[in-house]
Amino acid sequence: MLKQETIQIIKATVPVLEVHGLEITRTFYKNMFQSHPELLNIFNHTNQEQGRQQTALANTVYAAAVHIENLEAILPAVMLIAHKHRSLGILPEHYPIVGENLLKAIKEVLGDAATDEIINAWAEAYGVIADVFIQVEEELYQKAENNGGWRLFKPLKVAKKVVESELVTSVYFVNEDGSALPSYEPGQYISVRVKVPGEEYLMNRQYTLSQASAEDGYRISVKRENEHTPNGRVSNYIHDTLQVGDLVDVSVPAGQFVLQETTAPITFVSGGIGVTPLNSMLQSLQNDATNAVNFIQCARNEKVVAFSEAIQEKVDVLPNATYTALYSDADELITKELLTEKVADNADVYVCGPVGFMEAVIKNLREIGVQDDKIHYEFFGPSMQLAK
Ligand code: HEM
Repeated sequence: MLKQETIQIIKATVPVLEVHGLEITRTFYKNMFQSHPELLNIFNHTNQEQGRQQTALANTVYAAAVHIENLEAILPAVMLIAHKHRSLGILPEHYPIVGENLLKAIKEVLGDAATDEIINAWAEAYGVIADVFIQVEEELYQKAENNGGWRLFKPLKVAKKVVESELVTSVYFVNEDGSALPSYEPGQYISVRVKVPGEEYLMNRQYTLSQASAEDGYRISVKRENEHTPNGRVSNYIHDTLQVGDLVDVSVPAGQFVLQETTAPITFVSGGIGVTPLNSMLQSLQNDATNAVNFIQCARNEKVVAFSEAIQEKVDVLPNATYTALYSDADELITKELLTEKVADNADVYVCGPVGFMEAVIKNLREIGVQDDKIHYEFFGPSMQLAK
C-alpha cells in the first residue's frame, strides 16, 4: 500500500494537474503515439480529434488517485472502463507505456513545479491503479473464455445485411465454421476492428447487439452518419463497403448496461439509435413475463425509425405491455406527463439515446420522483462518470 506521505502529495497535487488537464493529456497522447504508433490501432482517432478521450483517461487516473485509500468506492466506474478495455484487447504490457507517458507529460507541462517527490508519488499511485485494472480485466478475459468465447479478436463472417430504415442497417456476424457464438446479456456490445480503405491504422468501434442472444449470430444495427462526421468512418464503411461473406475482427460481448432480472415494472425510453440495447432487452423478456412493460421510442420520423415493428410485435405478445412511438418531426416530444403515465411505481427505467436526450429524460424522471437506483442508462462514447 502507499505511504501516508505519498497519499498526501497525491491529494495536494490533483487540483494542480486538473487545472492543466487538457494540456497534460494532449502532450501525453502526442508523445505516446510518437513513440508507440502501433497504439493507433487501438485508440479511437475520432475521440482523440475531439479531445474527448483525452480528458477521460487522465481524469480517471486523478479521480482514482483521490480514492487511492479506498479504491472499492470507485469499483463501478472501474468495471465500466474495464469492460471497454477488455473488449478492445488492452493488455498488462500496455499499462507501463501509458504510465510512463503520463508521468513524462506531467513533468513536461508542470516543469520545475513537478519535483522528483511529486513524480515519484504519482508513479507509485499509477502503479496501484494500473494493477487494479489489470487484475479486473484479467478476470473479464477469463470469464469470456469460460463462456465459450475468445480472448482478443476473432474473424467472424458477415452472414447477412438487412436494411432496417433509411438510416439503419443491421449486420449479422457468425462463426466461419457455423458453430454457435457465446451467449450474451441483452444490452451488451461488441468491438469491431476494421481496416477502412485510405486509413493507415485499424479502427475499432463498439456497437450494441441489437437483438436478444439468438442462433442467427451477433446482430449490430448501424446508423449511417453524415459523411463529414469523422465518427462515421467505420459506420459508413459498414454501410457502403462491407459485404456478405467478408470477415471482420470482433471481440466477445462486453458491458454492464444490461437488463436486471426483476418482477418489477419496466419502462424503456429510447432516443434515435439508442433503441439498439433497449430492443435487445425487450426481446429477451420471456413471452409470458408478467412485468408491466412500457416502451417509449423517440425518433425523428417514420422513415428513420428502427425496429418499431419488432417492438410492436413483442409488445403484442407480452401480457402487460404498451408501446408509444413519438416523432419529433411531428412535434411529438417526450413529456413529464407521459413519463408519469408510463413509469409505474417501483419501475426500473432504462434510458438510451443521444446525450442531450438522456440528460433531459433523466432530469424529468428525477423530477417525477424516480429514485436514482431505478434509472439505468449508458452514454454512447467515452463516459466521464468517474470524473464527475
Ligand atoms: C477508454 C481510463 C489505461 C486504452 C478509457 C476510458 C477511460 C479510461 C475513463 C473511457 C471509458 C468509456 O468509454 O466510458 C483508463 C485508465 C487507465 C487506462 C484510468 C490506467 C490506469 C489504458 C491503457 C490503454 C487504454 C493502458 C492501452 C494502451 C483505452 C482505449 C479506450 C479507453 C483504446 C477506448 C476509447 C478510445 O479509443 O479513445 N480508458 N485507461 N487505456 N482506454 Fe483506457
